[in-house]
Amino acid sequence: MQEIKAIIFDLDGVIVDTAVFHYHAWKKLANEMGFDFTLEQNERLKGISRLESLDILFEIGKIEKKSAQELDQLADKKNKWYRDKILMMTPKDVLPGVKNFLLDLKNSKYKIAIGSSSKNANTILERIGFDGFFDSVVDGLKISKSKPDPEVFLTAANELNIKPEHCLVFEDAAAGIEAAKTAGMLAIGVGKYENLSNADKIIPDFSNMNVLMINNLTN
Ligand code: BG6
Ligand code: MG
Repeated sequence: MQEIKAIIFDLDGVIVDTAVFHYHAWKKLANEMGFDFTLEQNERLKGISRLESLDILFEIGKIEKKSAQELDQLADKKNKWYRDKILMMTPKDVLPGVKNFLLDLKNSKYKIAIGSSSKNANTILERIGFDGFFDSVVDGLKISKSKPDPEVFLTAANELNIKPEHCLVFEDAAAGIEAAKTAGMLAIGVGKYENLSNADKIIPDFSNMNVLMINNLTN
């Protein structure tokens, strides 16, 4: 059994339901470019950086490659729609069970961190009242390679001064599960089996989660 000393949380789709805001903004962009974009296709974008997501969207819509400037404009457009949504968020938008679980962890021996590919992570954390709450926040502004590369989680472990083998990651994206496993961490999926079949274990959400259950996840 692995001794767990730190818990790293993905943000979008784990702490808050912003994954759906990302989806709606990408869908709006796809529709403007003349094609539809389904929830199933959106699974491929979860955990992936903004510009890499746009690349995948182009592939899905069979859109010809644009100049770097045009790509930036499209990514900015999507990001503005997305930010309109996250700027309306309040502490009430924290997903069920998450706050209590985090407080439980903070009051026990565990370090806690955010490991997110998003450049909007700090805006969300401020909006939901979690500014300064985590021992480390590693976001899209701190890393050069987004998930499935392990950089985000290895950076968090490093900031916490905890070895990767003592870290447990909660993730809603297949790319994030791959990143955590490549980092040598325990990867717990949050969501449905069909999207997270490579996870070490899966929980549906945090509504029944407590600190004692960490042991159940490690063996
Ligand atoms: C991840 C999301 O957390 O952040 C992805 O799962 C998103 O869907 C990525 O593309 C980058 O986010 P942002 O906020 O920098 O556009
Ligand atoms: Mg996510």
